[in-house]
Amino acid sequence: MTELKAPIVVVNFKTYREVEGVRAIEVAKVCEDVAEQTGTTIVVCPPTLELARVAQAIRIPVFCQHTDAKSAGANTGWITPSAVKQTGANGTLLNHSEHRLMLYDISASVNECKSAGLTTIVCADSPQTAMIIASYEPDFVAVEPPELIGGNVSVTDAKPEVVQKAVQAVHRVDSHIPVLCGAGVKNGRDLRKAMELGAKGVLLASGIIKAKDVKATLIELVTGV
Ligand code: G3P
Repeated sequence: MTELKAPIVVVNFKTYREVEGVRAIEVAKVCEDVAEQTGTTIVVCPPTLELARVAQAIRIPVFCQHTDAKSAGANTGWITPSAVKQTGANGTLLNHSEHRLMLYDISASVNECKSAGLTTIVCADSPQTAMIIASYEPDFVAVEPPELIGGNVSVTDAKPEVVQKAVQAVHRVDSHIPVLCGAGVKNGRDLRKAMELGAKGVLLASGIIKAKDVKATLIELVTGV
């Protein structure tokens, strides 16, 4: 996949009712329109069951919300990185707060994803965890304080020091790993603040998926930087 240019906006669809079934494609196409109109890097993470349909319907980067550290073979029900790659998806989130992994599994997943050619965004709940995760050499680390996820106050306002410390911690391990931040991010002001704090972009969900007008909200967010 070509390198993702900052600012990067990762829209995690989670499993919200608003993006079940064909609606995942509709929202993904809105994200694609806004990315193309504004020249912003927008990555979509559709619900897993819609991954292939979405990946085939749009040209912007599509990431899975989670994959398992399993290779092709007798692994009933697991999500293998090689099968994710076959859908046309470009990468995956790992260790999201709503789908936590043991540290050992994160490391194994990052390696399995690398072999499959998937870009990894590995989530961390704190600067300390971000530093450990950076040592596994993911493509991105995303810091999200769990208590702010789904709320109305952005991490950039509630805990700006967590973003700054996560950037410093990750860069102590490897200055080339870009850091994203998320939790409560809603608008262009939050994205701008994230960039000022040293992040290369944001991860967000409810602010877009539950917005009355997804397109207008996304345009405001990406043009607010
Ligand atoms: O993956 C992004 C997410 O956890 C943040 O959720 O709803 O606070 O934007 P939200």
